[in-house]
Amino acid sequence: MTGAMTGADRRTARDFVESSGRPRRVSILGSTGSIGQSTVDLLMRNRDAFTVEALTANHNAALLAEQAKALDARFAAIADPADYPALKEALSGSGIETACGRAAVVEAAERPADWVMAGIVGAAGLEPTLAAVRQGRIVAFANKEVLVCAGSLFMREVAAHGATLLPVDSEHNAIWQCFDFSRVEGIEKITLTCSGGPFREKSHAAMREATPAEAVAHPTWSMGAKISVDSATLMNKGLEVIEAHYLFQLAPERIDIVVHPQSIIHGLVTYCDGSVLAHLGSPDMRTPIAYALGWPGRTAAPTKRLDLADIGRLTFEAPDPERFPALRLAREALARSGGPTVLNAANETAVHAFLAGRIGFLDIAAIVERTLELMPDSNLDSLDDVYTLDEAARETAASLLDARGNSRIAQ
Ligand SMILES: NC(=O)c1ccc[n+]([C@@H]2O[C@H](COP(=O)([O-])OP(=O)(O)OC[C@H]3O[C@@H](n4cnc5c(N)ncnc54)[C@H](OP(=O)(O)O)[C@@H]3O)[C@@H](O)[C@H]2O)c1
Repeated sequence: MTGAMTGADRRTARDFVESSGRPRRVSILGSTGSIGQSTVDLLMRNRDAFTVEALTANHNAALLAEQAKALDARFAAIADPADYPALKEALSGSGIETACGRAAVVEAAERPADWVMAGIVGAAGLEPTLAAVRQGRIVAFANKEVLVCAGSLFMREVAAHGATLLPVDSEHNAIWQCFDFSRVEGIEKITLTCSGGPFREKSHAAMREATPAEAVAHPTWSMGAKISVDSATLMNKGLEVIEAHYLFQLAPERIDIVVHPQSIIHGLVTYCDGSVLAHLGSPDMRTPIAYALGWPGRTAAPTKRLDLADIGRLTFEAPDPERFPALRLAREALARSGGPTVLNAANETAVHAFLAGRIGFLDIAAIVERTLELMPDSNLDSLDDVYTLDEAARETAASLLDARGNSRIAQ
């Protein structure tokens, strides 16, 4: 991907998998979320091939306990201490260790495992994902905000600790399956597809009045609330351009976006001879997760098989930059030092405010744009710099929310 998946790293991980002869030991950071639950579903269907070391959640103690029991996990960690009594009680007598707090989530990431799913949402996943990376693990990488906010510093940690990143985001997983890592000089560009989200055909006026319920009602994918809103603004695709830039080490102008409402083709790689390799599949995250779970082999997934005659038509269009400014904002941010960190922090703050009913849908991009304007460029020389800039950008975005009171920012 990557600095992470050099040939040497790939051989190391492959040798390990093929020679170990025992079930792969896995941990899931964010097991109660959408990605986490899909991963749990696959593990439940392949019990002989995997054992479970650790599972984590933020608040959902009941589901975490249920998963830990069903998978016979060794350790369950919940980030919010307020939810710890419920977890402890639900797992008492089970023999499953429990703990709470951010340190407990980091401990879950550090415990011995062959494969760790990074499935937490937002920059909150940075510390635990880094902890898994620093143990040199194979990390199935869904938590894109980690790469957006820490970029090359994160990739440097991956390389320094001999960790391996396996892209789980469906588009990046698709590119991974089509990307000839041994002949990168023959690759001209990659294309990430985008469903267009629930407002693809909505007017600017309708988008101004859009409710959180409408924004999270994604037409083709079933996902957590934050990424669903990001898909509605197309910020998700902007974050994915940044993610692809770091994973595949491609200049931003060699990463294209095309709207493809059916979500059947997930990613394409264009080669210098005009060949284009594409990855197709039903819009179900269990396919890319299964690919990462089984890598370098394959794990069966019970997803709907494609019937192209039944689907009939696959259509494509360019994204509308007027109604969806987030894509432009992401590319502009990527061109600035510290820009992606600011973009991500402002977006998380604005999406949270939108979901809480504090701002309108169009205000999300407006707040991100204004935060980017207000924040100077920052050199990020260390992860401490990342945390400091992330916090400053959140404060700036929050002050914009406070300043606006009940008046809308975006017209
Ligand atoms: N969902 C998809 O189809 C999809 C596709 C591609 C990429 N991704 C990416 O995968 C990541 C997860 O997405 P998702 O849709 O699965 O999100 P989600 O459904 O909201 O789940 C997030 C998970 O992270 C936990 N969590 C949230 N805040 C936390 C914190 N501060 N500390 C520790 N744990 C925390 C949640 O615990 P609780 O349940 O207790 O709140 C939950 O387990 C995101 O980065 C997203 O962009 C998702």
